Amino acid sequence: MSDSIITFDNVSYKYSCGTIALNNVNLDIPRSKKSVILGANGAGKSTLMLLLNGILKPESGSLLYNKIEYNYSKKKIRVIRNDIGILFQDSDSQLIAPSVYEEITFGLCNISNNKDWIKSQANMVIESFKLNDIIDKPPHQLSDGQKKRVCLAAIVAMEPEVIVCDEPASNLDPQSTEMMFNYLDKLNSQGKTIIISTHDVNHAYEWADSIIVMNRGNVIAQDTPTNVFSDNELINSSGLKIPSIIDICNKLGIKEYPENIDVLIKQLKI
Ligand SMILES: Nc1ncnc2c1ncn2[C@@H]1O[C@H](COP(=O)(O)OP(=O)(O)OP(=O)(O)O)[C@@H](O)[C@H]1O
Ligand SMILES: [Mg+2]
Repeated sequence: MSDSIITFDNVSYKYSCGTIALNNVNLDIPRSKKSVILGANGAGKSTLMLLLNGILKPESGSLLYNKIEYNYSKKKIRVIRNDIGILFQDSDSQLIAPSVYEEITFGLCNISNNKDWIKSQANMVIESFKLNDIIDKPPHQLSDGQKKRVCLAAIVAMEPEVIVCDEPASNLDPQSTEMMFNYLDKLNSQGKTIIISTHDVNHAYEWADSIIVMNRGNVIAQDTPTNVFSDNELINSSGLKIPSIIDICNKLGIKEYPENIDVLIKQLKI
């Protein structure tokens, strides 16, 4: 197992209504890797992500960041939240400023008084996320996909070590989806740890270094995409589907699953 950046040590979480959303979760998030969390609706993915970023505090058990236990005092948890940025499943819960520009600079102003730095960080993400046309707009007037881009841009501007994205591609058109994942890849190539949740098993298979499978508040597997999707019992019991590429390979009797469709096509041409 590679070096882990975040550890869940026997973590349970119960909402005030009594729903146990996480049940004794033990998990190591590998440093500088791309992890994908899969699981049916209600499996506990969003709850686990809110715990990762310190917004929720475990009912029992503990979380460790760089081997140090999370401290939930106001001052210390802010440091965790700056280091572990989160993109919410619902962008409206994230957007608070009157304009896109202020949305992007809001977090930056909280961590620095250096106006030049704030401006240069803001300009960097405005350029990267192609936000120039909407920079003065109130965020609530944006389309869902635009909101998502603005939220991610605001997170990236803060340069967190870990980026947690809860269903980053939901509501995005194909080009925006590609742009979003290209950006996450770029951040990962700079050494950032990326954790996303998704229902897109095809994308998860091709993109993830490590897949975490959740079922009814439990983490039931953490393995490579090939190992996870080779396990039919695991897939069926957690309400998932196998990616199309695995389905095609199974139908063609190909035992060694290729890493993506291009590799499969190459293999079939030989
Ligand atoms: N704010 C809340 N108050 C009470 N119960 C909640 C709350 N948020 C989630 N839950 C419950 O906790 C459990 C886990 O929900 P969670 O949102 O973490 O699942 P999820 O895997 O993210 O699902 P989805 O794929 O639909 O986003 C569910 O049973 C859900 O009903
Ligand atoms: Mg969710």
